[in-house]
Amino acid sequence: MLSIEDLHVAYGGTRAVDGVTLQVEAGQTVLLIGANGAGKSSLINSVIGLVRHSRGRIRFDGRDISAMPSDARARAGIGYSPEGRRVFAAMSVKDNVLAGAARLSAREQAARWDRMVASFRFLGERQSQPAGELSGGQQQLVAIARAMGGAPRLLLLDEPFLGLAPVWIQQISAAVRQMQDEGIAVLMTEQMARPALKIAHYGHVMRSGQIRRSGLTSEIRGAALAEEYL
Ligand SMILES: Nc1ncnc2c1ncn2[C@@H]1O[C@H](COP(=O)(O)OP(=O)(O)OP(=O)(O)O)[C@@H](O)[C@H]1O
Ligand SMILES: [Mg+2]
Repeated sequence: MLSIEDLHVAYGGTRAVDGVTLQVEAGQTVLLIGANGAGKSSLINSVIGLVRHSRGRIRFDGRDISAMPSDARARAGIGYSPEGRRVFAAMSVKDNVLAGAARLSAREQAARWDRMVASFRFLGERQSQPAGELSGGQQQLVAIARAMGGAPRLLLLDEPFLGLAPVWIQQISAAVRQMQDEGIAVLMTEQMARPALKIAHYGHVMRSGQIRRSGLTSEIRGAALAEEYL
């Protein structure tokens, strides 16, 4: 579904992504593990079109999306949850979640909302409250629910577990498993290897913009855990 080939991203003289090749298939969850500055966000942001790559190819459903603007990529079925709790603080919880579903019909939006409430109960309880008043963990969940609410076929999660208590990590993990069952492809980044290794099928260990190790999560476990302490 997603195919990245020899991807390069640079900011001036800094090579943030330096020749990465990876694939994500339908129903597969692929983990990108790496310490601060490894290039994880740069890679995710180039898939959603927030940064331009200088070399290489990004294909979605076999089609090169390099020239496609971000909003067109979202409409094509790429959902994105950015690093670090980005919610619309003044907007209600429900409007935040449905902001990801603006292209769906009212009926589909209502169905998506019910699904999200079934996964994350507090969304229903807090639906009218401004999202900026929620705890950090709850805001992170709102951001993820927004990405899921758009009914994506490929979901990009940039450090979804960062700074979250175990109870929230478990809820997000359960939601990701549900997406897997529905055939949705997930590409997620993490510094926290332990919980991420539990839900991903396949992983890449990234350092200085390059993939150093790839394999089934069982195969890269040692290398991924070592990266956590860098
Ligand atoms: N907008 C930018 N301008 C200049 N350099 C940048 C920019 N964004 C990232 N970089 C640099 O690119 C490299 C990769 O950063 P990136 O944010 O992709 O890493 P990361 O793996 O997501 O790190 P973190 O875990 O801290 O989020 C770093 O050296 C970083 O300083
Ligand atoms: Mg990052």
